[in-house]
This record gives sequence, C-alpha cells and structure tokens, in this order.
Amino acid sequence: MKLLSIPLLLILISNFDASSLIKLNNRPIIGILSQELTTKRLLQYPDKTSYIAASYIKYVEGAGGRAVPIFIGKNEEYYENILKNINGVLLPGGAVYFTNRNGYAEAGAIIYKKIIEMNKNGIYMPIWGTCLGFELLAYMSANNIEIRTACTSQAQSIPLNFTRTYNNSKLFGNIPKNIRYTLETKNATANFHKWCITESTMEKFKLNKIWKVLSKNIDQNGLEFISIIEHKKYPFYGVQFHPEKNIYEFVRNRNINHDPDVILASQYFANFFINESRKNFNSFSSELEEQNYLIYNYRPEYTAKNNSAFEQIYFFDEEIIDNSN
Ligand SMILES: *[C@@H]1O[C@H](CO)[C@@H](O)[C@H](O)[C@H]1NC(C)=O
Ligand SMILES: *[C@@H]1O[C@H](CO)[C@@H](O)[C@H](O)[C@H]1NC(C)=O
Ligand SMILES: *[C@@H]1O[C@H](CO)[C@@H](O)[C@H](O)[C@H]1NC(C)=O
Ligand SMILES: *[C@@H]1O[C@H](CO)[C@@H](O)[C@H](O)[C@H]1NC(C)=O
Ligand SMILES: *[C@@H]1O[C@H](CO)[C@@H](O)[C@H](O)[C@H]1NC(C)=O
Repeated sequence: MKLLSIPLLLILISNFDASSLIKLNNRPIIGILSQELTTKRLLQYPDKTSYIAASYIKYVEGAGGRAVPIFIGKNEEYYENILKNINGVLLPGGAVYFTNRNGYAEAGAIIYKKIIEMNKNGIYMPIWGTCLGFELLAYMSANNIEIRTACTSQAQSIPLNFTRTYNNSKLFGNIPKNIRYTLETKNATANFHKWCITESTMEKFKLNKIWKVLSKNIDQNGLEFISIIEHKKYPFYGVQFHPEKNIYEFVRNRNINHDPDVILASQYFANFFINESRKNFNSFSSELEEQNYLIYNYRPEYTAKNNSAFEQIYFFDEEIIDNSN
C-alpha cells in the first residue's frame, strides 16, 4: 500500500471535522429536580408533595433529551443512585424558601456536592440552573449562605447586556451571529424574580473566583443584577431568566416574547445544555429500569385552565422522608 504524500495528508486532516471524532451520547437523560408546593398551590392540591412545571420537561425534550424527575425529601442514597444513571441535572425555577426542611434547596445541596465529586473523578456531569435554580447554584457555591439581594423583575422582557469577556466561555464561544444579535437587541429574556445576585455580592463572597459572569441586566427599579453565570471549572451554567417560558408558556399578560427569532435564541440554551449532557455516559442498568424512571410514567395537569402561570404541571405524591437529626 502506497503511503499518502505529506501535503495530501495535511489537506485531508484540515478538511476533517474534529468534532466528529468525539464520541457522544445521543440518548441523554436529564434529571429535573421537583420542588415543594407553595401554600397557595397546596390548597388546590392538598395530597401532592412536589411538582415540576411541564415547560422544563419540554425544554429538555425539544433539544433531544429525555427527562427523569428527581424527587425532594429523599435520603442521600436515593440521590447518589439516580445521579449514577443520568447525564445531567436541571434545577428549575419556582418559589420556595431555601431554608425549607426536606425541600428543593436541601436536595439541591446533596446533588451539587455529589456532582462536584463526579466531575472531580473525571465524569463530565453538567448542571443547568434556571431562575431559582440559578440563585441556588450561586447560594450553594457560597456554602449555603443567603447571598441574594431583594429586587424587582416581574414580567420583565429584556435583551442581554453581555459582559466584555462573555465570548470567552463554553456557553457563548461558538454562538452564531443571529442568536447573539437576537439576545442583544430583542426583548428576548423573560424575567420573573424578586431576588438578584449582584456584582458586589460576587466580589464580597469571592464568587468571582468560581463563576464567570457572562451577562448583566437592570431590574425594574434600576438595580443591576447578574443574568448568566458559567462555572470556571465544571460544566455548570445558570441563567436568571426563563428560556423555557418563551417556547412553552403562553398564559396572557405575562409579557413573554414568542417571536420566532426569540424562540430560536431560547432553544440555543437548551441545545447547549443537552450538548453538554451528551458528553456524559452514565446509564441505567437496564432498559426496564430506565423506563421505570422516565417522566412518561406521569401525566401533567392542564393548570393554566385553572389560574396557574404554567400551562401544565406534573404533580407528584412521592413520600417525603424527614432527614433532620
Ligand atoms: C466570539 O463570537 C463570534 C461570533 O459572534 C465567534 O465567531 C467567535 O468564534 C467567538 N469566540 C471567541 C473566543 O472569540
Ligand atoms: C422592549 O421593551 C421595552 C419596554 O417594554 C420597549 O420600550 C422596547 O421598545 C422593546 N424593545 C423591542 C426591541 O421590542
Ligand atoms: C444594559 O446596560 C446599560 C448600561 O448599564 C443600561 O443602561 C441598560 O438598562 C441595560 N439593559 C438592560 C436590558 O438591562
Ligand atoms: C451542539 O453540538 C453540535 C454538534 O457538535 C453543534 O453543531 C451545535 O452548534 C451545538 N449547539 C450548541 C447550541 O452548542
Ligand atoms: C381549580 O381551581 C379551583 C379554585 O381554586 C379549585 O377549587 C379546584 O379544585 C381546581 N381544580 C383542579 C382540578 O385543580
């Protein structure tokens, strides 16, 4: 067999798409953390112990992933076991106190610790936090200290103010021009939060050593808040706004932008996160086990018909185990 000449070899190499060399998991499964019901919701659904808004499930599915609910109020073994089987975790938005017993923040803290260990051990395991999930990421990285500042961003639809170094990141290093243009110029991000993380907090708690700040915004009272963070070491990402709402939440008078270019930009975040989860090769021990965990075992309720801001919600009645003492 004749050897290829060096110049020809170089041409072949330079035409070769290096990304196709990387083996990917094209059947990624994302664990989505449930949360306790608000007092108001509990009045309507007194027999339920936790819920996940269906838009987070759809967000994952729309990018080629499948979802598994992760329940609150379980013991450490439960979280350890489930994390071994899945390829990433999504911490959704919502409204709970981080100090609640056996709730969202407690489960989040166990998950966060275990995922850091996994990454330290060479298992590429991403976390995506949206809104409350973004705040929880920052909170946990500050060793569970309340670092949030009260602010006002209700039904606020705004463009992103990218930081100078936003592009030096995994999230935006390869951002297409059209997506960047949409995010920078259109009212593309849907904000619903009364807590914010500020630049001075990042400095005070040395969170700048842990996170890159990729964008900032101004709330309805003129307070500057951080809108996107990316972990410096691990594949952890947080957005203060709600990309899933643009695509999947249609309750009126919430000022959510559904323009087609904004839908594409929102999908960019989901596609990025699911891409990250494709680099993880955890799996369930059998197909039957996988089937038993998937969200397809549950049915969402059409809640917008009954005064909810969410079109559909998955309610769960899983037992809450009291882990205190
Ligand atoms: C920055 O963004 C542009 C597109 O806006 C992209 O072409 C470029 O590769 C990005 N990355 C860096 C590190 O500059
Ligand atoms: C974004 O929203 C603001 C406030 O509602 C409005 O003044 C502005 O024109 C909007 N911008 C775009 C590009 O739609
Ligand atoms: C972007 O930053 C500028 C300068 O601080 C500010 O005036 C503007 O309100 C910000 N835009 C948004 C949408 O937060
Ligand atoms: C996801 O990965 C594919 C294949 O590597 C790439 O073409 C695409 O741009 C990625 N999408 C995002 C949003 O990162
Ligand atoms: C719908 O809302 C009403 C009023 O809050 C409540 O009484 C009823 O139980 C709800 N129905 C369902 C199916 O949740």
